[in-house]
Amino acid sequence: MCGIIGISSNKPVSANIMNSLKKLEYRGYDSAGIATLSDGNINEVKSEGRVENLEKNFDLKVLSGNIGIGHVRWATHGVPNSINAHPHSSENVSVVHNGIIENSTLLKKHLTNQGHKFKSQTDTEVIVHLITENLKSFELQEAITKTLKQLHGSFALGVIFKDKPDLIVGARRGSPLAVGYGPNENYLGSDSYALKSMTNKITYLEDGEFCIIKKDEVNFFNNKGKKINKKILELTSKEESYDKGDFKHFMAKEIEEQPVTLKTGIKEYINNINNDINIYNFPWKIEEINSITLIGCGTAYHSCLMAKYWFEELTSLDVNIDIASEFRYRKNRFKSDTLYVFVSQSGETADTYAALDICNKNKMKTCAVVNVIESSIARDSNFVLPIHCGPEIGVASTKAFLGQILVLYILAIKLGSLRNEIENKVYQDKIKDLKNLPTLIEKTLLIDNDIQSIASTFNEAKGSMFLGRGFSYPIALEGALKLKELSYVHAEGYPAGEMKHGPLALIEEGMPVVVLAPRDSYYKKTISNMQEVVARGAKVLLITNKSTDEVLSENIWETIEVESTNDDLLPFLLTIPLQKLAYYSALKKGYDIDKPRNLAKSVTVE
Ligand code: G6P
Repeated sequence: MCGIIGISSNKPVSANIMNSLKKLEYRGYDSAGIATLSDGNINEVKSEGRVENLEKNFDLKVLSGNIGIGHVRWATHGVPNSINAHPHSSENVSVVHNGIIENSTLLKKHLTNQGHKFKSQTDTEVIVHLITENLKSFELQEAITKTLKQLHGSFALGVIFKDKPDLIVGARRGSPLAVGYGPNENYLGSDSYALKSMTNKITYLEDGEFCIIKKDEVNFFNNKGKKINKKILELTSKEESYDKGDFKHFMAKEIEEQPVTLKTGIKEYINNINNDINIYNFPWKIEEINSITLIGCGTAYHSCLMAKYWFEELTSLDVNIDIASEFRYRKNRFKSDTLYVFVSQSGETADTYAALDICNKNKMKTCAVVNVIESSIARDSNFVLPIHCGPEIGVASTKAFLGQILVLYILAIKLGSLRNEIENKVYQDKIKDLKNLPTLIEKTLLIDNDIQSIASTFNEAKGSMFLGRGFSYPIALEGALKLKELSYVHAEGYPAGEMKHGPLALIEEGMPVVVLAPRDSYYKKTISNMQEVVARGAKVLLITNKSTDEVLSENIWETIEVESTNDDLLPFLLTIPLQKLAYYSALKKGYDIDKPRNLAKSVTVE
């Protein structure tokens, strides 16, 4: 991934570049750097680690200049250090890059033979030297067109030139890039979020396009170097909150915010007057859809898995799910009566976008379930179902997960009703229960203290397991993922019924095992599976819902009871203790909760 920013202005730009880099940190935080042009020189500053290191290590005053580029890195080629940090510069050219240059080894060999000297281990540096080389024989536009043709792989680029002190070149193939327009200045950025504090007027580059940005003019070109016109979009200037408030971490805030974000989501889709679900402008007739394929990565994939259980319960649609990085390279049998649903918080994940692109090329019906409505996945899908969660800053997804499963659940009940596969009374009851969900989440959020002490046991263990059956299985996977992401503890999510076919061998005395056993139709089966791990010495944390019936089992280490509601909605409630378990576990270890090691919020490389 990585994030890039560029500003061409009539005033010094380094402070605004620094501010934008802070916003882009969700795309990578291995290193950061800025280059500006002034007095015929390229001034470059770079630091390993966070943007705050860069800010601490360098005085912005040394970075004069009305034109500049900046970068936050998520390392792909070369260890995260200040040498491999972007920008990368030659005598004349400085480049920031998001993506991967697949033929960099070959290009590096050619360029080295031509006398170019490389300083870093990155693939990006070949772009710097290729442009430098091409500028020896061609004018700017032609040199850029030629360079882009020589590059294989994916990229979003920002380039400045020592002898062209008034312009920035931006180029896109595969990785997102936006241009923004301001008063006496123009911008280049990985996304509109980085530019939002400066402008709400945006143009997105399409694959193969490049642009030349000056303070008072922007020109766009296609992959043949021919000038093209592009539309300026005006983004909603809706105020969104990007601060932590009284919380120690964004993640804590985002967990506690869930009753409100769910309430907003419900309000957006449910018509209170007639107790109905509104999905406006759905572009297809219901008879045109006989199957549904849900695709995502990471937490979003778990949302797809969750949705499969609901779609199968509430409709007779064929339901398939896929991990985007697998889908994109398999030989898929595309079917025109299938609705392809792409689930992504950011709407920019490279693998999910590539899967969407393949479906679009095959003229399939595509629908995006996203948080960022201006994102590439939203823009390029036939239909968008926003999750209305507001910005999610913590790298480990929490409120977006509940937002995604909420929207997918709403879609499942609506399709079930439109297809006459659930009775009107059942439909009405499910909507009524749904309206009560934010209050139940609010109550479940109160279980804080129990979890704080439980978290220590997970930290001391070599590994842990998260088990569930049916509706609880996707939640077990998500719980294990949260613990891995945040506290770097080995955690495996598994279907409880499958333990005896192998993983049971892992269970040893004192191993913490989370068993999700709400009192739904799977309850008795899950409790039996729980006995199997208890019998082998596991320390079982049972998560169930409140009931007057006692749990008939001995030797359970700890029990947490969430609120009770209909079976469909229990997964929402079970998620809360798992989010908190991961949070407190990382808090006790003193880890960076909002920016776990090696990860990034938006993964725009494949
Ligand atoms: C990254 C994030 C995960 C997220 C996944 C998919 O790996 O760290 O939290 O689930 O990307 O992101 P998306 O924006 O497509 O939901």
